[in-house]
Amino acid sequence: MINIQRNYPLKHYNSFGLEATAQLFIETNESQELFNTLNSYNIDLNNLFVLGTGSNVLLKEPLLQTVIHPVNTDFGVIEETNDSVLVKCGAGKNWDEFVEWTVDNGYGGLENLSYIPGSVGAAPIQNIGAYGAEVSLCLESVSVIDLSTCQQFMVSRDKCRFGYRDSIFKEPTHKHWLIWEVYFLLDKDPRINLSYTPLKKEFPIGYFPGIQEVRKAVIRLRQSKLPDPIELGNAGSFFKNPVVSACNASLLQEKHPEMPTYYHEPGTVKIGAGWLIEQCGWKGFREGQVGVYPRQALVLVNYGGASADELLNLAGSIVESVKKTFGIKLETEVRIL
Ligand code: FAD
Ligand code: EPU
Repeated sequence: MINIQRNYPLKHYNSFGLEATAQLFIETNESQELFNTLNSYNIDLNNLFVLGTGSNVLLKEPLLQTVIHPVNTDFGVIEETNDSVLVKCGAGKNWDEFVEWTVDNGYGGLENLSYIPGSVGAAPIQNIGAYGAEVSLCLESVSVIDLSTCQQFMVSRDKCRFGYRDSIFKEPTHKHWLIWEVYFLLDKDPRINLSYTPLKKEFPIGYFPGIQEVRKAVIRLRQSKLPDPIELGNAGSFFKNPVVSACNASLLQEKHPEMPTYYHEPGTVKIGAGWLIEQCGWKGFREGQVGVYPRQALVLVNYGGASADELLNLAGSIVESVKKTFGIKLETEVRIL
């Protein structure tokens, strides 16, 4: 199946709910059809974008030339041993529906990543993470299509250069790579991960929950903290938690002992950006149709009808004030297209 639309509205393809249009919108679940289309249309590769569900993008330009939206959703077990299963899933599958299926079948590894919006194909892009887990922990390999050559190849986990909200797929040299399928290695005898304190606190001391219970607790926590994009336009955390040297962090902690810090890599510390932004007085701030979510200062929201510039101006003011107050430069997590 391939569906090609001209001048296609993208309001429902970005969770900020911004108005934008794709001159050419290509929706497909067949790679060969996609190759044929790319060869027959005169597509400018520099103005070609891949969009999943748009839950991590800010559509800055009102007009995008070509958008490819993968809708291949097949998934299932392709290999099984006594301890593990190798599962393959198409890029277009809804991430949380896929996680729900893994949990229902008793396959452990993705339960802490429950209820993250988006598609399976986008999960490796920023190495989605939450509640003490990252997708790289269970990802085996990725099947990629290079849209500039129409070649399809596999990238194994060790070649993905995964980091905190980072991977090889974000590097500018790979901007023509479309993730087509993702392979996950999951445990048949799940190891429960309660390393994230707020998740651990959901269970009585000494209690060992199963993956179904972990999934439910994660969903509960997420619903209590984060706005539902269907009700309030947002793209989750707008900024990444900044990573600073351990030395810098301890100087800041002398002044602010309550500042949340997390171990990152040797010699570096991650700081809770939500806390930094809240300390600068932004939490609950609203101006016109944009604002900072009152329950989570890392989330910028569109109260309805906002423009990309309004959101970017607000983001710019937040970056400036955090820099001035703490000397830390926040970086955006959301991809600006
Ligand atoms: P899109 O937003 O459509 O795309 C994101 C980027 O990936 C774009 O650069 C796009 O070009 C590229 N892309 C998408 N699909 C493909 C593909 N198949 N091949 C190549 N490139 C592709 N993220 C977390 O990590 N942890 C969280 O806890 C979390 N919570 C969130 C909560 C809320 C309420 C919201 C709205 C977002 C949250 N996010 C979180 C961000 C978002 O859910 C993830 O980044 C998700 O993976 C985005 O999926 P998507 O399909 O919407 O990608
Ligand atoms: N905090 C504040 N004020 C706020 C928000 C947070 O003081 O307004 C403090 C909290 O009290 C806590 C710390 O900051 O001490 C961390 O807060 P939280 O546990 O809510 O997590 P986070 O660091 O703000 C990150 C991810 C989320 C992910 C959660 C849960 C990033 C950029 N964000 O948020 O991911 O769901 O942890 O693991 O790493 C996303 O990427 O879009 C996203 C939502």
